[in-house]
Amino acid sequence: NVEDIPVITIDGPTASGKGTLTDEVAQALGYDVLDSGALYRVTGLAASRHHVDLDDGEAVAALVPTLDLKFESGRVLLDEEDVSADLRQEATGLMASQVGAHPEVRRALHQLQLNFRRLPGLVADGRDMGTAIFPAAPLKVFLTASAATRAERRYKQLISKGISANIDSLRADLEARDARDKGRSASPLQAAADAIELDNSQQTIGESRDLVLSWWQERRPFK
Ligand code: DC
Repeated sequence: NVEDIPVITIDGPTASGKGTLTDEVAQALGYDVLDSGALYRVTGLAASRHHVDLDDGEAVAALVPTLDLKFESGRVLLDEEDVSADLRQEATGLMASQVGAHPEVRRALHQLQLNFRRLPGLVADGRDMGTAIFPAAPLKVFLTASAATRAERRYKQLISKGISANIDSLRADLEARDARDKGRSASPLQAAADAIELDNSQQTIGESRDLVLSWWQERRPFK
């Protein structure tokens, strides 16, 4: 029974470190990962390539079932093309936030996300994993960090890849994206009532991971 497959949800704002924490926790437990942001990103990218108006929710949603998508060990293939690098662009993140505001698009992506739930378990990263997609998950984490910390981390990440960046404009971009993700009426970014909030501004990734693993020891359904 798919309902018996354990799920940990990790939701939070842009650049809070969800992706890294999700990968670390999944690796420690041998679980699969759902990077739901990648689904919104690839939808935004495909819509823009097909010249579909990103503000037209029905048109973008209609595109979703026609997408030829493959997920292979951290890479995303769209029409057999590896688009992983395009997906990580800031511009694609903004397109993802734009298409994610439409309830039609969220409905179109719902089942696709449920399909990632496989044995032995899943760690799901996003904005509404605990509130809308896996509301019965036994462990829900809401990960935050201050806007200054998030902008600084994103800045270092880009510089280390040889991409030039401006910390003030990065911060303005992520605050604008947070405002849209929180302000939309369809599954806004918010902590589930039973989520544990974790502010990782002053933590290393190892510390956050060990904390989540200790919570999972207490809450996992099968010990
Ligand atoms: O996590 P991310 O930065 O890859 O997400 C990109 C955008 O996609 C984010 O700003 C809002 C949208 N998104 C969403 O609406 N719901 C999700 N579960 C994941 C992402």
